Amino acid sequence: MRTLGARLALWYSLVSTVTLFGLLAAGYFLLNRHLVRGVDLQNAAEFHRLVAGGSLPRPGAESPGFLVEVRDAGGAVLYRSAALGVTVLPELGNTVTIGTLGRHRVGVFQKDGATVKVAVPLEPVRQVMLGYAEISLVLVCLVLLISLISGMALSRAALRPVRTIQETANRIRLDNLSERIPVGDSQDEIASLAELLNEMFDRLETAFEEVRRFSAEASHELKTPLSLLRLQAEKLLSDGRLGAEQEEAVQEQLAEINRMQHIIEDLLFLSRAEAQAIRPRLLRRNPREFLDELTEDAALLAEQAGVQFRAHIEPEGEVAFDAQWMRQALLNLLTNAFRYSGRGSLVTLDSEFTLDAWRLTVEDEGPGVPEVERERIFERFVRLDDAAERGSGSGLGLAICRSVMAMHGGAIHAGAGERKGGLRVVCEVPLGGAPRVADRPSEREQAVD
Ligand SMILES: Nc1ncnc2c1ncn2[C@@H]1O[C@H](COP(=O)(O)OP(=O)(O)OP(=O)(O)O)[C@@H](O)[C@H]1O
Ligand SMILES: [Mg+2]
Repeated sequence: MRTLGARLALWYSLVSTVTLFGLLAAGYFLLNRHLVRGVDLQNAAEFHRLVAGGSLPRPGAESPGFLVEVRDAGGAVLYRSAALGVTVLPELGNTVTIGTLGRHRVGVFQKDGATVKVAVPLEPVRQVMLGYAEISLVLVCLVLLISLISGMALSRAALRPVRTIQETANRIRLDNLSERIPVGDSQDEIASLAELLNEMFDRLETAFEEVRRFSAEASHELKTPLSLLRLQAEKLLSDGRLGAEQEEAVQEQLAEINRMQHIIEDLLFLSRAEAQAIRPRLLRRNPREFLDELTEDAALLAEQAGVQFRAHIEPEGEVAFDAQWMRQALLNLLTNAFRYSGRGSLVTLDSEFTLDAWRLTVEDEGPGVPEVERERIFERFVRLDDAAERGSGSGLGLAICRSVMAMHGGAIHAGAGERKGGLRVVCEVPLGGAPRVADRPSEREQAVD
């Protein structure tokens, strides 16, 4: 039983069926006893009728269906109904099977020292009990069916608020932290659970906001001192008063400062994108020209990396996108492909239009990424073991790609390369347009700065 609803329905149905079964079984026992007692009373009435004249029962005086045996005080038979055949009626009042006549109930009475036994068939009692058992069986089956159906309906109705909580909680993610679970008017356990969860989401939202603000402020604060450091290093180099060794050391410092500046800019971008503070400048156009420019730059990067690069661009179609952020995302993907695939291998970029999206695919022939890691590589600062050997990245490139796609209302996923393994990253931007659109250039400058 996978769901709580199904388990509840089953339990409900089992309990009602077993209860009914128990009641019907008790009814069977009581009715049987009651009917047998009625038969005993019939035997007694027949005895009293037979001895009503004051003498022992006369032969042949018994009513139809009754059998009689009369013995004197010494045990000698005075009279026996012919239908008894060879069967001897028991001493104590009990049941006995008489030849082909079936089971009989025997009543034993005393009259003037003689023993009078009267027997009457139990067949009518058996028939009534058989009918009772058949009706009971039908009732049990019916109740089992009805209770299963009504149990399912009841548990569905009872668990509806839980399902609402589940669905809402599932929707509350990093990009949607402000949604809350609806709390009904009734002050029941479910309502207090929803309130409790909402309070927890409030705390989580505040904590996330603080982390975001901290990350944005820290990156922002670090920008100025780093720029100063950079200026000083550049001044030292331009003065030309340093020895060869010192100059090399300052060059190294400058490279590190550059790297840190990149990381800080990336972090600043990510925290602002998460806070939805960046408004992309979405312009609807044919991406052909944009891609031509991009592929020229990519070809240069590929040459530097000793990798072959080929682009296949479908000429038709229009889509709204922000050229600068899209270029940043695609260059991140292409840089990864050039960096992580071996020299001489082939990297391709495909641009095509599906029914509802602009699809961009970057595929390489490098080592690829194991399936279990393919979602994780889009998280911040995630670098796989062998990445460190291949370059000095910071693990933010793909996180930025995902943010850029989210800005466009699109998605990005990694899979296995279809040519020679490697990695295949697919980005999809919906043709219907992103949820947030700002076409004024000034707005973007303000938002990003
Ligand atoms: N084409 C690829 N082939 C194999 N592994 C890849 C590929 N692209 C990304 N990865 C793996 O995913 C990790 C995350 O990539 P991401 O672009 O986010 O960071 P990075 O390239 O290490 O650094 P950055 O892009 O910030 O300079 C990489 O470190 C690498 O391990
Ligand atoms: Mg990268």
